[in-house]
Parts: sequence; structure tokens; C-alpha cells
Amino acid sequence: MSKQGFPAGFLWGAATAAYQVEGAVREDGRGESIWDRFCATPGAIHGGDTGEVACDHYHRFKDDVENMRDLGLSSYRFSVSWPRLFPHGHGKLNRRGLDFYESLVDALLEARVQPALTLYHWDLPQALQDVGGWTNRDTASWFSDYADCLYTHLGDRVKMWMTLNEPQVAAFVGHSDGRHAPGLKDFATAVQASHVLLRAHALAVAAFRELCPAGSRIGIALDLHTMYPFTDGMSDIEAAHRADGQVNRWFLDPVFKGTYPVDVLEIYAKHGVAPRIEDDDLSTLSSNPVDFLGVNYYFPQRVYACDAGGVLGFEYGHLKDCPRTEMGWEVYPEGLSDLLIRLKNDYADPVLMITENGAAYPDRITEKGQVQDHDRIEYLASHLLESRRAIEQGVKLQGYYLWSLMDNFEWGFGYSRRFGITHVDYHTLSRTWKKSASWYQSVIATNGAAL
Ligand code: FCB
Repeated sequence: MSKQGFPAGFLWGAATAAYQVEGAVREDGRGESIWDRFCATPGAIHGGDTGEVACDHYHRFKDDVENMRDLGLSSYRFSVSWPRLFPHGHGKLNRRGLDFYESLVDALLEARVQPALTLYHWDLPQALQDVGGWTNRDTASWFSDYADCLYTHLGDRVKMWMTLNEPQVAAFVGHSDGRHAPGLKDFATAVQASHVLLRAHALAVAAFRELCPAGSRIGIALDLHTMYPFTDGMSDIEAAHRADGQVNRWFLDPVFKGTYPVDVLEIYAKHGVAPRIEDDDLSTLSSNPVDFLGVNYYFPQRVYACDAGGVLGFEYGHLKDCPRTEMGWEVYPEGLSDLLIRLKNDYADPVLMITENGAAYPDRITEKGQVQDHDRIEYLASHLLESRRAIEQGVKLQGYYLWSLMDNFEWGFGYSRRFGITHVDYHTLSRTWKKSASWYQSVIATNGAAL
């Protein structure tokens, strides 16, 4: 590693997800996804926005790949829309859906941008939701069949894979908070969904080992929050440990140790919300280790004990006078290095990739068409510096994907929040580099020395 740079071969990436950028929701035989259905629910999404057009990446992917080449990205993380390949979730492959991803991957390789493919970034085929979605164990097997199909067709060209994006959010925000598709509000259902998601992950890793050539790697992208007690009182310290249990360990432990955290499982059992675990479920997990862990980190949580705070008795507090993004998320880059070092210590020094990190700010476009997003640059730079600090402490961090390559459909917030380093005009769909894009270009060109 050079004095100020990053290790040789460090991956400089940017990320997006299918439903957030593609649009073309009814084209070429694509089936309905739970996000199409959820967006059609009155009041579900800010401003009634939908992913129908999004960034129109489906038609403009060649320009977007050119943009990546200009930035100098070494890798691009994107997701595949399951209902484009299997409009009903399983059965006959929709060849035209697959064609799109074949063309995208070929364009990336041609531009020397390594594809990093996420199999599931939340857009479940609605047909599967109709038979129970992630609460139905069969969904895990259908997921693995869908994964198989992609390994078979793209395994020769895609070397980096992720099974699921943020199963914690898919399970709990989608099935307990009701803020994401499928919009359910039942904690026990969410816990069950989390279990089926983890099983799906393990089955897809098992299939990967059979079908993908040596040298290809597979992981999972988890949303991890560093949990700090709001005060140094014992009850808040314990509450932070429980919050860590629900959000972090509930996913990390099965993936790395093939067990659920006993403290959380006991509380779930006491409240009658534990998942239905069948005989081989945990051994399937423990016998299918990942090659790397994808870390999505945006902000830490400040946790306090609260009897009314759900099954696990905690709530999230807000520090006064700290910097926040437009999402209201606290800016605390040290939370990232704390997290990376903790993962090294608690989970046997895994290979890590930061698969998402970034910030929404109220960008203003000037008359000259420029976006001077200094706040975003500062956010990204400070998190990269903390990443480097973690590497210096021996963390095996091999890449960084910022969120996001371009402004896009931010789920329940619709188009009201912009995370991109490329500005998207949603009327003309034209793309313009923000200042952060030129900044990232120079960071990449110097392998981080320009930070
Ligand atoms: C993450 C999601 C990603 C994006 C960012 C801001 O939780 O994985 O799709 O919405 O948040």
C-alpha cells in the first residue's frame, strides 16, 4: 500500500439496483414485482412516484457504461430483476429479460468495468408474493433455481456475485414496519421472512459452488449499523446489545457461524415470534460459507432502553447538534471503521467489500448546470479515510462501492432524495456529472492518494 493510497487491486466501484434505475417495467415480457404493486398503493410512496421510468437505464445502459468508463470505475454493482427473467417467479425463462443482462455485462467487460451482480435487491415477483412471498419456504428454492439460471448463463463472465441485498430491510421494513413492499405490518411475519431469506441465501451459495468456475466469488450484502448506547447507563448498554442482535448478529451469525444469536432467539421464543427452523436449515447455512461479506454502511444508531420499544425493548435516539444528511441520518464516519474492525474481530477476519456507502443532500443545479455537492464529497471522503484506517489496522477490505452511480428511485422517498454522483434530470433523463463525480474520478485515478 502506498503511503496515502489503497492496496493494489482495490476495487473502486459504484452501485445501483434494478428497480431503482431500470424503468421499462412492462417491456420485453417482464412480470410484475412487489415494488410495482406497492407503488400503486395510494400513499405508499412520496408524491405517488413509481419505478415505471426511473432512470430509463434499461434503454440507456450503454451511455451509463460509458459514464462508468469515464469515471474510471473498476467495478459496477447492479442487481438483476427476478421478474424480468421469470415473470411468474419460476418456470419458463423469459429469454428477452436475460438478453438485457447479457448485453449489460458484455458492455461492462468491453469497458473494463468488472460486473458485480446482486441476485436480489428487493423486487420479488408479485406472483410469488401471492403465494406467501418470503414467508413461504418454497420461495427459497425458487430463488436458488433463478440463481442457477444466472450462474449458467453469466457465470463465465461475472466473477463477483451477491445473493441478497440487505435481507434485514427486506424482512423487517417490508413485513413489520410496512414502509417497503410488500407493505405488511407483523413482527412475527418479518422474523419468519428473515429466516426464509437466509435459507435462500444458503441454497444459492450451494448452487454457486456447483456451477461457477473457480476464481469467482460470492457473498451477501448486509446493512450493518454500529450500535452505540445512548448513555453509558447499563440499561442502554444492554439495549444496544439487543439492537445489535436484531439488526446485525441475526444475519451475521447464521452467515458466518450457522447459528442464530441465542439471546435474540430466546426473546423471540418467549414472545412467540421465533421463526420455524427445520432440521437442516442451520447446517445448510454453516456448510455454505461466503467468499466475502458486503457491508452497506450509512450511519450508526444511538440506542436506549424502552419497554414500549417492541419485542426487544429498545428505541433509537437522536444526538443533538450532529451533522445529518437529507435523510436525517447522522454522519459518523468513525462508525464505519468501528464496524469493520468489529467484523474482523468477531467473525474470523473475513474478506470485506463496502457494497454501499453514500449520502443524499438537497442538490442545487446552478444556471450553468453544475451541482457543487461539497457536502457529499466530504461525506464520501471521510468514509473512505476511515476505510483506509481500518485497512491499516489489518482489516481485509478489498473494495468500495459508493451509492450511487446516479440519482434514482429512493424507495418510499420516490425521487425526492438524490444519492447520485451523476445528476439525473427526471424530465429529460439527461445525466450530468456532479462535482463529486470529478472528485471520485481523481480519487480512483490515484488509487485513493488524492483523498
Ligand atoms: C440502502 C439500499 C439502497 C439505497 C440506499 C440509500 O438501504 O440498499 O437500495 O436505497 O439504502
